[in-house]
Amino acid sequence: MDPTALHPDIEAVLIAPEQIRARVQELGAEISRRHAGHSLHVVGVLRGAAIFMADLLRELTVPTTMDFIAISSYGNRTRSSGIVRIVKDLEDTVEGRHVLVVEDVVDTGLTLNYLRELLGDRGVASLEVCALLDKPSARKVEATANYVGFTVPESFVVGYGLDFRQNYRGLPYIATLRPEIYEMREE
Ligand code: PRP
Repeated sequence: MDPTALHPDIEAVLIAPEQIRARVQELGAEISRRHAGHSLHVVGVLRGAAIFMADLLRELTVPTTMDFIAISSYGNRTRSSGIVRIVKDLEDTVEGRHVLVVEDVVDTGLTLNYLRELLGDRGVASLEVCALLDKPSARKVEATANYVGFTVPESFVVGYGLDFRQNYRGLPYIATLRPEIYEMREE
C-alpha cells in the first residue's frame, strides 16, 4: 500500500485491504460449507457491520436474505454500561430461519449476548454470529462468536466499518488512530 495514501489521522495499518479480502473469502467459504442445503438469513448490526456484511454476503454460495438491527447503550458507549435498547428492529421475522448475525467487533461481549438472547427468544431454527474482529482482552462477560475474522489487541481501531465519532468507516483498511485524535477532550 502506498503510505502517502494513508489518512492523516491514522497511526498504523493493522490489517490491509488484501488481507481483509482473503479472510472474508475464507469466512464465506466456511459459512457456506456449514450451511449447505439451506438458506441463510443474514442480520447486520448497524452501523459498523454494514461494510463487512456487504462483502461477506457476496462470498456466500448458499441463498441469502438480509435484514438489519440497530441497538445502542444508554449514555457513554465507551463505558459500556451494558444497558442496551433497540434503535431499529428487524423488518422480517426470524422464526424458523437459520440466522447469521454479522458484527464488526466483539468487545465487552455485551452486545453479542444481548443479541443471542433477543433473537434466540424469537424461535430461530439456528443462530450463529460472525464477527470481523474479536478483542478478547476487552470482555466483561463471556461471549463467543462462531466465526471470527481477526483477533486484535485492545486498541482503538477504525476503518472498514469501524468508527471514531462516526468517522473513518469508509477506510479500506483496519488501522489504529493516532492517540492525539482520540485523546482530544470532548467539547
Ligand atoms: C459496536 C460494535 C458492536 C458493539 C460491540 O457498536 O459495532 O455492535 O459495539 O461492543 P460490545 O462487545 O462492547 O458490546 P457501536 O455501539 O459502537 O455502534 P456502531 O456499530 O454504529 O459503531
